[in-house]
Amino acid sequence: MYVGDKMYSMTTHKLIIGDCTDMHEIADGSVHLVVTSPPYFNAPFDYKKLYKSYEHYLEMLRKVAKELHRVMAEGRIVALNIDDMLVDGEKFPIVADAIRIFLDAGFRYRDRLVWKKPDGYLRISRRSGVLLQNPYPMYFYPDNLLESIIIFQKGKFDYKSVSEEVREKSKINIKEFEKRSKDWYRTLWEMTNVLPNSDLEKGIAAYPDELAFRIITLYSYAGDTVLDPFVGSGTTMKIARNLGRNSIGIEINRELVPVIKKKAGFDGQDKLLDDNDTLEVRIRATKKVEMYGNNRKDR
Ligand SMILES: C[S@@+](CC[C@H](N)C(=O)[O-])C[C@H]1O[C@@H](n2cnc3c(N)ncnc32)[C@H](O)[C@@H]1O
Repeated sequence: MYVGDKMYSMTTHKLIIGDCTDMHEIADGSVHLVVTSPPYFNAPFDYKKLYKSYEHYLEMLRKVAKELHRVMAEGRIVALNIDDMLVDGEKFPIVADAIRIFLDAGFRYRDRLVWKKPDGYLRISRRSGVLLQNPYPMYFYPDNLLESIIIFQKGKFDYKSVSEEVREKSKINIKEFEKRSKDWYRTLWEMTNVLPNSDLEKGIAAYPDELAFRIITLYSYAGDTVLDPFVGSGTTMKIARNLGRNSIGIEINRELVPVIKKKAGFDGQDKLLDDNDTLEVRIRATKKVEMYGNNRKDR
């Protein structure tokens, strides 16, 4: 059972700086949950011209799906926060294509959740302005407040494979859970987005702590390993740690190491977290490995 966000048990965390189309450091069947948000194909605000073509983007997703199927334990869940993308007036069907890609990689398609941002969310362009300027039929382009969270499963979960002790440790205190996650029981989740200029998440398109909190609480057990192959600012690692889960994050941008360390509480600031937790940072290009933890000296 958790108290607020925190489960009191030692956890280990690993950050790999490199390209997640290759996850060779992660053993087959060793991951119990994936929560992640890949870059949205050439999103005008965050990833403009990152991929040469849409096919190039889909090829990247195919490689990631294949690796995820290899590293996932049987019966476990991949939660993909993703959405269709409008680039230069053309809408790319990323959700439909991602579902096809994950099915082809061997996953089962289990659910689709919709994340609704607050009505005042103004970061995206006001597409409805086209109609205001041209108040005639056929000028309608709606403002988008929604994103998808698509849920895949590798085979079927054996509920008997979890010991009684772990099951009880992971029991969801529904009253506590409901206090912060009021609409957890339905497919429409209303969650406040991270402000684009907020301190740690500037330019990263981070998802809110609440998204990781709900997915990790609902789809993993205490002591499980949670993987985020596009870890960005480290939201998934932070919440996994808070909830007594181990984590692995992969991130291509090396400059985010200090951000992730800070967010996950490994910069010596967060005295609330378990002193014995450790963070290993592996920078592929340099073969460098660093260890962090309140009781460990950096090496
Ligand atoms: C949408 S952001 C993830 C944000 C994250 N959910 C958070 O809350 O901070 C996607 C991240 O994936 C990273 N990325 C893009 N391509 C990658 C790749 N091939 N391998 C690993 N990371 C990659 C980007 O640098 C970016 O930080």
